[in-house]
Amino acid sequence: MKERLEALKVEALQELGGVQSQQELNELRIKYLGKKGPLTEILRGMGALSAEERPVIGQVANDVRAAIEEVIEAKQAAYQQQETENRLRAETIDVTLPGRPSPQGAVHAINKVVQQIEDIFLGMGFTIVEGPEVERDYYNFEALNLPKDHPARDMQDSFYITDEILMRTHTSPVQVRTMEASKGKAPIKILSPGKVYRRDDDDATHSHQFTQIEGLVIDRNIRMSDLKGTLLQFVRELYGPDAEIRLRPSFFPFTEPSAEVDVSCMMCGGNGCRTCKHTGWIEILGSGMVHPRVLEMSGYDPNEYSGFAFGMGPERIALIKYGIEDIRHFYTNDLRFLKQFLHV
Ligand code: PHE
Repeated sequence: MKERLEALKVEALQELGGVQSQQELNELRIKYLGKKGPLTEILRGMGALSAEERPVIGQVANDVRAAIEEVIEAKQAAYQQQETENRLRAETIDVTLPGRPSPQGAVHAINKVVQQIEDIFLGMGFTIVEGPEVERDYYNFEALNLPKDHPARDMQDSFYITDEILMRTHTSPVQVRTMEASKGKAPIKILSPGKVYRRDDDDATHSHQFTQIEGLVIDRNIRMSDLKGTLLQFVRELYGPDAEIRLRPSFFPFTEPSAEVDVSCMMCGGNGCRTCKHTGWIEILGSGMVHPRVLEMSGYDPNEYSGFAFGMGPERIALIKYGIEDIRHFYTNDLRFLKQFLHV
């Protein structure tokens, strides 16, 4: 029996030596170590042996088994390593290859200016609110102290949708909507950016659609000096600590008194240049103290509350800031133009 076991070992090791594939290895494992294999058969026959012989043969059988297993395991490990190496080779990626560029959009020049202005006013405690672009005549005109027969309505030729509905001609209706929603409660401190529409023939300085940013502050004891201080702080954050403002008397039906606000020319520091047409000043916004009639119509007692409002055009600010000569560039979407603002 011992000889059979030794012969079996020799035969198995020889056959294993010539194994060519993982599958062959599996087959040999079953052939020699499986339940129906010769080793199992020999072990089963051990019952017929004498008590002295049994442990001796048992030991030999175990040794043979261990020797065969060892070779199979070594080969198995080699196959596995081979497979891992093949996988690694097949799945290699070249991390030094440049990536495929994906076309990237960017914030539009106008929106950049809007965001910058929003940030300044957020820093002063204002809240951003938005209103509809398709607006009621009431909010756009009537409640802003512009009754139907008011001559100042001619100042803004409007796109009417019906007799009562139009594309808003300015962002001032958001003043009214905000006051209405606040139901006589103060303080109100809002900034409202958005698109506005006017029946203008488009040229280098006019567009039938552009952007405005409205500001409104309502509280007790709000005075013209608050308006001036707020706007001075604003231009200094936008243009630098040396910027100055000046207020010129003006007229808007919804503010009294009203003022146009000029900022000292940021190109020449006020000395006079092409940008400021040699005046040293550039007009940037309209403003005034909220008209008592406007307060009253929206539910605020003008004897108790007062406020100021202002409206500015980001296009104008961007045109000056970037030295752009034609407002139409902002809307005609020529990528060569737009791409210049990717990193500003
Ligand atoms: N709504 C005015 C305009 O479009 C600007 C403005 C806003 C003036 C608020 C005064 C107060 O020209």
